[in-house]
Amino acid sequence: MTELLQPKLRLADGHTMPQLGFGVYKLANQATMNTAIAAANRSGYHLFDTAQAYGNEAILGTAFKELAIPRTELFITTKVAEVNQGYDNTLRSVERSLKLLQTDYLDLLLVHWPIHSQFFETWRAFERLKAEKIVRSIGVSNYHQTHLDYLATRANEQPVVNQIENHPYLSQEPLLAYDRKQQIVSQAWSPLGRGVVLQDPVLAKIASQHQRSVAQIILRWHIQRGLAIIPKSQNPQRISENAAIFDFKLDADEMTAIARLNRRQRTGADPEVVYEIEHQYH
Ligand SMILES: NC(=O)c1ccc[n+]([C@@H]2O[C@H](COP(=O)([O-])OP(=O)(O)OC[C@H]3O[C@@H](n4cnc5c(N)ncnc54)[C@H](OP(=O)(O)O)[C@@H]3O)[C@@H](O)[C@H]2O)c1
Repeated sequence: MTELLQPKLRLADGHTMPQLGFGVYKLANQATMNTAIAAANRSGYHLFDTAQAYGNEAILGTAFKELAIPRTELFITTKVAEVNQGYDNTLRSVERSLKLLQTDYLDLLLVHWPIHSQFFETWRAFERLKAEKIVRSIGVSNYHQTHLDYLATRANEQPVVNQIENHPYLSQEPLLAYDRKQQIVSQAWSPLGRGVVLQDPVLAKIASQHQRSVAQIILRWHIQRGLAIIPKSQNPQRISENAAIFDFKLDADEMTAIARLNRRQRTGADPEVVYEIEHQYH
């Protein structure tokens, strides 16, 4: 039932991408990964978001195999880490990611963070991987408007996805508007603010009016703004709860009340700083 109602977004390169996905950051051992992926599969998630930097591509690949999920039912995203950027390094690291994930193609490959020294070389490797059909879609993560504008000065292919931190305390409306204008789909990472926003009284009130959890209200808010989302949980009940968001609607006043919670509060690094220092901090 949930499955039938789950929307897909059309990317500028013609491919489609599920609007709801599952983030696997911090899922660190095989048993936990298998339990989470089995629960996600049962709840109708198809998109799985990992990264070279998470160190869990291998256990994710093994989970897909052990659970015998057909490759055609999966949409797999991984991201090239800062240390693997550059033309040759990117190509080599993606080859390794494919092996670890036990697949011969990726649905989406993202540059994890912009870094200045390898900015264009990494993207040139991405364009080659797409041309060779090793990767269906190419995109970026943690790019601000200036990074996107700069990339466009030399790119042959434009990114079709920009995965950015986004939750009620960091709504980033100007960047979302810019992404839309450039036909880039914005995908929210830490869509629940890593739990930071879950105690908010405004959200609690809206949740009680709908008899839904605060997490469901936040995820529904993202969906109605047109964002793709990749909430993470290792708890099967919460995994299912986070997918049950397609059978109710927030009204305009509720959408506005949530938008007003923005306080530009990051849980992760600031991309402008990472671009300069070439690694994440905190
Ligand atoms: N591109 C990037 O730079 C970047 C950076 C960070 C993350 N990401 C991606 O985005 C994904 C999601 O982000 P995230 O993991 O940082 O944060 P998140 O999804 O916003 O929040 C995850 C936290 O919320 C809890 N949670 C999940 N569902 C809940 C619910 N229904 N009720 C109460 N608590 C709930 C989880 O705990 P339990 O597990 O105990 O349920 C976990 O502590 C990551 O897994 C990763 O794939 C990308």
